[in-house]
Amino acid sequence: METSRVLGVILAGMLALAASACSSSDSGGMGPTGGSGGNAGSAGSAGQDAGGGSAGSQSDAGDASAEGGAAGDSGIEDATEEEASTPAQRGEYLVKHVSACGDCHTPRKQDGSPDLAKWLAGNPGMFEVPGLGPDGGVGIVSPKNLTPDVATGLGSWTDAQIKSAILDGVDDEGKALFPIMPYYVFHNMTSEDADAIVAYLKTIPAVSNAIPENNFDTPAPAPPVPAAEIPDTTLATTDPGYASAVRGKYLASSVAPCMECHTLHVQTPGAVPLDMTKAFAGGEPFYSAAMHLPPIFPPVIYSANITPDTTGLAGWAPDNIVTVLHQGVDKDGHSVCPPMPVGPQGAFGGMSSIDALDIANYLLSIAPKVNDVPKCEPSDGGPPPADASTE
Ligand code: HEC
Ligand code: HEC
Repeated sequence: METSRVLGVILAGMLALAASACSSSDSGGMGPTGGSGGNAGSAGSAGQDAGGGSAGSQSDAGDASAEGGAAGDSGIEDATEEEASTPAQRGEYLVKHVSACGDCHTPRKQDGSPDLAKWLAGNPGMFEVPGLGPDGGVGIVSPKNLTPDVATGLGSWTDAQIKSAILDGVDDEGKALFPIMPYYVFHNMTSEDADAIVAYLKTIPAVSNAIPENNFDTPAPAPPVPAAEIPDTTLATTDPGYASAVRGKYLASSVAPCMECHTLHVQTPGAVPLDMTKAFAGGEPFYSAAMHLPPIFPPVIYSANITPDTTGLAGWAPDNIVTVLHQGVDKDGHSVCPPMPVGPQGAFGGMSSIDALDIANYLLSIAPKVNDVPKCEPSDGGPPPADASTE
């Protein structure tokens, strides 16, 4: 119970960012906090092109004709996978459109949109963790400044130190990072992709932005998710979709934070932070108040069961998942609630169609898990659902 409260607060912070990302930039009529509600309108009509066009075709990665879609709309310079000829370009694509590092590490402007002048320059006080602060008070965890500024960012860190922070949760002084930073999932990323991310971080503008230390110490990094516990595709190796699903497993579990948000968290010191027996089965709570969402949203939004069970994605086609990522619209044409960073204004809106399709092929071919998660149904200001408590 206390556990879910802690997690809820943690996640809420992240969601706040994601939620506001949805409402940023060029979405014209929609209000700054109307975020995902407004998103539905624009995405509804655009749904066809991403879903139909890209995913329908094939999973052949040979021709990297992925549109990379709406990346440009985020206001962040576009970086699609086909352009990734150097490690830094690959890193840029991963940071912006797969790993969504900016959701936590870029501060928001007052209207909720990302402050691109401070791209990856840290986010003071973003997360509050009850009980971990001084005298059992609130612990404050701030995503740090990742720009190459020497005094306030990573300017004096070696490449190896930055890589250890991302993969192992240890900083340049050997101190442990609190496991809101998802190093316990990034740990299973390839060394090449981690190097690519480091290479990209060295190319971004240095921004002087001092971020406060946390007000408590983390005794040790959380253990990484054991690779053997990540669900495998059930497709036969001879299945034409097998290679795509294997690529999707890598992306969904270890590079993009899908597994992180769609698995119940565990807050036991020394334990892996995710309940891997329920990997991808959803049910992790996110709190609307902490995300500063308008009252049309229920107080608690749960991540969906994205295994192919009838309580999850059974009956979905790969294209439907691609459409969620690129357009923020689900199979029934409803907009997906925050904090998932979807649609033209979210990080995943710029994910390459090939990567999105690989993730879809993977999720639809893992073993189904039963978990009937309440769906987020925004109202038009009506009363919130009767039972919104976590437990
Ligand atoms: C869910 C939010 C979240 C996401 C997503 C996230 N981070 Fe972090 N990150 C944090 C937080 C919070 C900290 C601070 C942890 C602490 O100090 O205990 C942090 C710390 C770090 C640090 C250590 C910096 C320092 O000065 O100690 C590095 C490096 C880092 N993150 C890189 C990344 C990269 C690269 C990505 C994307 C691949 C990423 N993070 C994604 C939340 C996040
Ligand atoms: C920051 C947390 C977060 C991240 C990261 C995230 N999701 Fe989600 N996702 C959610 C939440 C919360 C919902 C439920 C929203 C709702 O009910 O409208 C959701 C809904 C979905 C849905 C719609 C399911 C349905 O039944 O309508 C799909 C599909 C999905 N996510 C797939 C993914 C994939 C694939 C990734 C990684 C590329 C991912 N998610 C990353 C939080 C997240």
